[in-house]
Amino acid sequence: MDTSFSTREQPRLLKELTEFLSIPSISALPAHAEDCRRAANWLIQDLRRLGCPVVDLIEGRGHPVVWAESPPVPGAPTLLIYGHYDVQPVDPVSDWLSPPFEATVRDGKLFARGTADDKGQVFCLLRAYEAIRDAKGRPPLNVHFLFEGEEECGGHVLDDLIAAQPERVKADAALVCDMSYYAPGIPAVYTALRGMCYAEITVRTLQRDLHSGTYGGVAPNAIETLVRLLADLKDENGKINIPKLYKSVIPPSKAELKDWERLPFRKREYLREEVTATALTGLKKYSVFERTWALPTFEIHGIRGGFVGEGAKTVIPATATAKVSLRLVPGLPFAQVAKWLERAARSAAPKHAKVEVTILHGGDPVQVDVDHPAFAVLDAAFEEVAGKRAVRVRAGGSIPIIPRLGAMGAPVLLTGIGLPDDGLHSPNEKLDLKQLWEGINVFGRFMERFAATGR
Ligand code: BES
Ligand code: MN
Repeated sequence: MDTSFSTREQPRLLKELTEFLSIPSISALPAHAEDCRRAANWLIQDLRRLGCPVVDLIEGRGHPVVWAESPPVPGAPTLLIYGHYDVQPVDPVSDWLSPPFEATVRDGKLFARGTADDKGQVFCLLRAYEAIRDAKGRPPLNVHFLFEGEEECGGHVLDDLIAAQPERVKADAALVCDMSYYAPGIPAVYTALRGMCYAEITVRTLQRDLHSGTYGGVAPNAIETLVRLLADLKDENGKINIPKLYKSVIPPSKAELKDWERLPFRKREYLREEVTATALTGLKKYSVFERTWALPTFEIHGIRGGFVGEGAKTVIPATATAKVSLRLVPGLPFAQVAKWLERAARSAAPKHAKVEVTILHGGDPVQVDVDHPAFAVLDAAFEEVAGKRAVRVRAGGSIPIIPRLGAMGAPVLLTGIGLPDDGLHSPNEKLDLKQLWEGINVFGRFMERFAATGR
């Protein structure tokens, strides 16, 4: 492969990526459904330009899936590339230093929503493919591209598709580039992702909002009831108050814990630069790695209710809703935890409150066995281009489709070109451009080396 491709083509690549990033494909917001379709179509055009003889937009009950196949190479291995073209909402938008959908370079970094998660990484793989295609006239392996638009919102289109057509994801390996290096200069492959159980908890205490003077002192306040309930579900030490939850967790092995102890970790910098807080919370007797990779979490994402407009209104709210989620680790299947959460929320509420728990979406936790030879191929590519093999870590985040991909039997290589401070889901999300150029070379070399392994 011509590793000067990424250097030579930089201006064009930056222009193309900027165009892809300008499409506000926010999958969670219905108003952006057309934009999700535009982002899918951007990929369709790109895959056609790259010479894929099969390029399909697959419809379902949500945002479409993009599917493409490279020109077939009989006898060569097949690599499945998975990624997502949807992005998270951008609020609070006033915190952005440049508009979230106008990609802007500052200090060698590209700022926009989706740069690291995941459009920039999808783009990286497409250009790695282009680089090896250019070098040899045609790519030396079979590449199947699978891009979804509902990763960030818990949709069903891809799940339905794989359930109906499991042969789509048959491959010799799957490559998922939606993660980051462990630290600058230290690439990573991931041995586990957490699962997720996302829910809304609604409390009703009155038929209608009331005057807080006339009835204040006797009328049950829905927001107060809700926040007490939430505080009951997780105590001030970070312990989640759901029976059987911790007892069901399958803890990491001694060997895995030892590996984590060897990782470079500077708690003060982590606290200040990544977490941006003055103290860490959670179960103090566990390390930061255990707390973020190997234990469940309970987070409150937003609370709606009462009066939130400008100025003052003296009202006792009749109803209030919290958006919450649990992150799940091995031993905690989504369906089981969903039931436990419903029961725990109900039993934490006083009798005079009506509690409703609506599960919005979820997915199981997943572990990946990284002993398959494909991981050695990836290590060799990282070593050759980035000067270092990948460290084995877990991810705190989730990718709902991965359990299904893993179940197909082929190894799933979870990796990526981001850096820990990219600000996924935050204002001023960025991708370091050095990571992008390096990534194009890493994955180009990976594809060439993987092609040479035969099948
Ligand atoms: N790219 C992330 C997942 C991720 C984050 C992996 C950090 C490794 C480290 C992904 O796009 C994501 O954010 N997923 C959502 C899924 C959820 C909505 C079900 C997440 O984890 O919140
Ligand atoms: Mn992502």
